[in-house]
Amino acid sequence: MDERRAAVIAVGNLKGGTGKSTIAVNLACALAAAGEPTIVIDADPQLTATRWLRGRKVPASVFDAPLGDFAATPAWIAELQEIRRHNAFVIIDLPAVLGAALASALLLADLMLIPTSPSAIDLSATTRTLQRVARAAEERRVGHLHSLVVPTRIDSGWFDDGGLRRLKIRVPSPLTPPIRRSELFAQAFDAGNWIGGFAPRSPAHRDIRSLMAAARKALKAPPPLPKPTAIRPAAVMAAGLTA
Ligand SMILES: Nc1ncnc2c1ncn2[C@@H]1O[C@H](COP(=O)(O)OP(=O)(O)O)[C@@H](O)[C@H]1O
Ligand SMILES: [Mg+2]
Repeated sequence: MDERRAAVIAVGNLKGGTGKSTIAVNLACALAAAGEPTIVIDADPQLTATRWLRGRKVPASVFDAPLGDFAATPAWIAELQEIRRHNAFVIIDLPAVLGAALASALLLADLMLIPTSPSAIDLSATTRTLQRVARAAEERRVGHLHSLVVPTRIDSGWFDDGGLRRLKIRVPSPLTPPIRRSELFAQAFDAGNWIGGFAPRSPAHRDIRSLMAAARKALKAPPPLPKPTAIRPAAVMAAGLTA
């Protein structure tokens, strides 16, 4: 296929308030500011990303496309495929529910980002999310699904309660560089701006740029190796049978 198609990055977690929209919006704007036409598909009926980006002087665009109903999935996917032809990156901001939007995103995405704070309640939702993602990755017939957990609301210095260390122990999967706790994200939202426009070169902006680099690297990486699920009996293998 010689047609140019955007890379699709889905941002999801089965728990609300983990920082999905914050990551989706700021990552999209960082990519767009780096010269890559980028659009956020707002798949959450709460429309946080839409409220953040629509009509603002920000580099990324937004398309509100909540998907609550499996019957609407084919049309939603067709629309997204069309949008891919006109962008370099498509970022899907997902709702915190198991449903049609997550299922569709897992069919299409090249990379799933799963933001989580180190709190126990976020981490248990993150584990459930990772199980879904692993299953989707195994079932994928077209393309490959990479996934990365994004540690968010990480405290440093005096305030550090070992959150990142705890998170690394509880989540045995690849992590991006952490996004620290910063009130600048909420202030940028209130100002109708992204972090790089509101507080350029701030630590929060640097964190988003590091996340962008990690996402780009993951998209270029070779397909993830399938997990060895079951050990096949030696006799089956000797006979050259695969199932
Ligand atoms: N790194 C962070 N530091 C401090 N507050 C954050 C951070 N990321 C998100 N928040 C705040 O947490 C709240 C929920 O974030 P949001 O991105 O809307 O989560 P979600 O989309 O997962 O529901 C918002 O008030 C947001 O400003
Ligand atoms: Mg959200």
